[in-house]
Amino acid sequence: MKIIISKKAGFCQGVKRALDLAISETTQSEEPVFTFGPLVHNNQVISYLEDLGIERIDRIEELPIGSHIIIRSHGIGPKDLEKIKARNLMIVDGTCGKVKKVQNIAKGLYEKGYSIIILGAPKHPEIKAIREYVNDEALVINSLADIKNPIFEKTPEKIGLVCQTTLSHAFFDMAVEKISSQIPHIEIYNTICGATHTRQNEARAVAEKVDLVIVIGSPESSNTAKLAELSVEITNMHLIEMQEELEESWFSEGMKIGITAGASSPAWIIKEVINRIMEIGRKLDGKVEVENASQYLVTNELKS
Ligand code: F3S
Repeated sequence: MKIIISKKAGFCQGVKRALDLAISETTQSEEPVFTFGPLVHNNQVISYLEDLGIERIDRIEELPIGSHIIIRSHGIGPKDLEKIKARNLMIVDGTCGKVKKVQNIAKGLYEKGYSIIILGAPKHPEIKAIREYVNDEALVINSLADIKNPIFEKTPEKIGLVCQTTLSHAFFDMAVEKISSQIPHIEIYNTICGATHTRQNEARAVAEKVDLVIVIGSPESSNTAKLAELSVEITNMHLIEMQEELEESWFSEGMKIGITAGASSPAWIIKEVINRIMEIGRKLDGKVEVENASQYLVTNELKS
């Protein structure tokens, strides 16, 4: 058996920074530390944070006065931010710089009188926050079918487009082409994050070389779902959150297996999955060759 691990998989800088902030806050603070919504879309990481005493709340009203709140990497809208400030809470801002950039572009365009189109999932917290920055007046497009003809009953003079940081490039290109054919004067801002782009490219390259791809991550994680989507277009794919979900029946002698992971999957989980597949491979073939394993097998990220 041969296992090929994507060169870029697992935590991105933004997620890692938010987690580091949360962990350092809970070690230094005497006050209770909370996250507004799940800090990452990964149940194992959430349980790890709970063990450290970091609790999740979903309504700002639930926060005890004086407590500390970590804003997750997806960011937060101005209305929620005001509510937090009004309760006099200590804010630790884990918003990813790349997400902030999208918020600022959208807000800047809106203030100059532009109508805003956002490509992305309307219910995702990143998009909800961006919408708040444009007074909830943006048109959100999540599929090609959402692009009606005409898009606007009366086409505005100034229109700007931004997108979710974890959008797939393929969808961005198709959507922009379809929208531009109706609105040639639209101002386009490709705000897909570089980490997303690299992970998708690497995952595609791995999928093209193997018989089966194992994508590690939560189905609720937008970037994980995109990795699963693009892998399954190329080869067989299973999406799992942890090694216990691997089934021996998926593997057979001499197979080539690819492994990739979403930006909210910690290296310790990737390592457990690699080890389990290696175990299965040894049982089937006697030996296993692994490509690009070093960064995961020697990790001390969060847990060793
Ligand atoms: Fe930030 Fe990109 Fe990660 S936007 S949170 S670095 S996927």
